[in-house]
Amino acid sequence: MFDIVKRSRRLREKSNIRALVRETQLHVDDFVYPIFVTHGEHIKEEIPSMPGIFHYSIDMLHEEIEEIAKLNIKAILIFGIPEKKDELGTSAYDEDGIVQQAVRHIKKLNKELYIITDVCLCQYTSHGHCGIIEVESVLNDPSVELIARTALSHARAGADMVAPSDMMDGRVQAIRILLDKEGYSNIPIMSYSAKFASSFYGPFREAAHSAPQFGDRKSYQMDYCNANEAIREMELDIEEGADIIMVKPALSYLDILRQGKDQFNVPMAAYNVSGEYAMIKAASKMGWINEKQIITEVLTSIKRAGADIIITYFAKDIVKWLKE
Ligand code: PBG
Repeated sequence: MFDIVKRSRRLREKSNIRALVRETQLHVDDFVYPIFVTHGEHIKEEIPSMPGIFHYSIDMLHEEIEEIAKLNIKAILIFGIPEKKDELGTSAYDEDGIVQQAVRHIKKLNKELYIITDVCLCQYTSHGHCGIIEVESVLNDPSVELIARTALSHARAGADMVAPSDMMDGRVQAIRILLDKEGYSNIPIMSYSAKFASSFYGPFREAAHSAPQFGDRKSYQMDYCNANEAIREMELDIEEGADIIMVKPALSYLDILRQGKDQFNVPMAAYNVSGEYAMIKAASKMGWINEKQIITEVLTSIKRAGADIIITYFAKDIVKWLKE
């Protein structure tokens, strides 16, 4: 016989003891569900590369909102697909823009549901960049001004929280100052702080019609080779007044999430993005992986890495499974 004294397997022997020592467990309160709202009427259209996820026109939102409430999901993140795009993304900060209308409508349907809005210009600009363009380069400060105006118009419409996703410098501070000045000091900011220039956003850009018409987003979104820079970005956003910091995408960036969690004492969110969703959906459809098990494992790993909040297109699925 061997002389083994320490045996880790003792605590794995039976499912009851595994449950007792389990460190991470998913809970319905962990999840935020993204919703795409489009202009037009009578639209409920599945996004081809994101099976199970739909574009809704405002008049069709009620069934989605009802289902979310029934599942006890507490928060949604709204993306708008506007009718008109222009150089300055004016429909992003229009008081009657698509997100602003959607927020007012959803609040009428269900005043308990917590509404977070994505604050960016890329769905609204004709060139598809997250800011204003001058000779093919994205201007920072004038863009920040419009982004802050967009956040304010969302708050005015009734949004509970704003989430800037543009990655311009100083936008958290500008949003905080403007919201406070206009009487919205209670509206928190969840900042996409460590947002990487990632190919995992591909299906989203198709869904939101927001692919850049020239160039890429590398002059504002982060280089995925860098972790220290991500820490600096998170630090800056906290200094500027972010209440929650986000890492995006999630799966290839769990190290960043863990470092942020260890370093900062603020709630952290992770965005399990469209490409991460699409890969699992595609492999499941082929019968190559077990969808339910993989999704549960993936979401648990995001929580284990340090996420307090997980934004995911799988929210409805996982919440159903957690109830079983
Ligand atoms: C807008 C925005 C993007 C995503 C969220 N907000 C796209 C991008 O930056 O190109 C991606 C979400 C996803 O892929 O699920 N700036």
